[in-house]
Amino acid sequence: QVCLPFVPASSSQMTNVLQMLKGKTGKLVDLGSGDGRIVIEAAKRGFHAEGIELNPWLVAFSRFNALRSGVASKTGFYRRDLWKADLSTYDYIVIFGVETMMEPLETKLAREITATNHVLACRYPLPRWTPSEVIGEGIDSVWLYTKDSKVS
Ligand SMILES: C[S@@+](CC[C@H](N)C(=O)[O-])C[C@H]1O[C@@H](n2cnc3c(N)ncnc32)[C@H](O)[C@@H]1O
Repeated sequence: QVCLPFVPASSSQMTNVLQMLKGKTGKLVDLGSGDGRIVIEAAKRGFHAEGIELNPWLVAFSRFNALRSGVASKTGFYRRDLWKADLSTYDYIVIFGVETMMEPLETKLAREITATNHVLACRYPLPRWTPSEVIGEGIDSVWLYTKDSKVS
């Protein structure tokens, strides 16, 4: 399995993710949610937002941050392996991982997402799918994908 280090989203990356989510709502998940910053900001904007994170300290820290930010009831942080999560139940799936995981993730998404799911990839795009929208440049880029992005 691909191992992801904890590198928090930069402020430009956060701005680009939030810009991509503007005017949208529903159920969101951040795969490898780190300190919970994306989940918390999404919850402040009306999403029910969840974080899936392997590191138990980061899960505890995220819950504390959500409480402090007043969005504990709109968030959920789970100590889980993202490769074992069922992604079909989320309207928005956010991923900021490492380049080597994007191909296996693409395969998992191709199996699990339907017409109602959207994927936001930060820093590294899905290698074969065509994004429906791109915001930002270089390492702060965010790509949006839908079911139509899939290579058949
Ligand atoms: C690049 S950081 C991104 C953190 C956060 N999403 C952000 O944008 O600030 C990747 C995170 O994935 C977590 N992680 C690594 N492997 C994982 C796995 N198999 N399942 C869930 N989380 C994982 C790491 O502990 C790390 O916090």
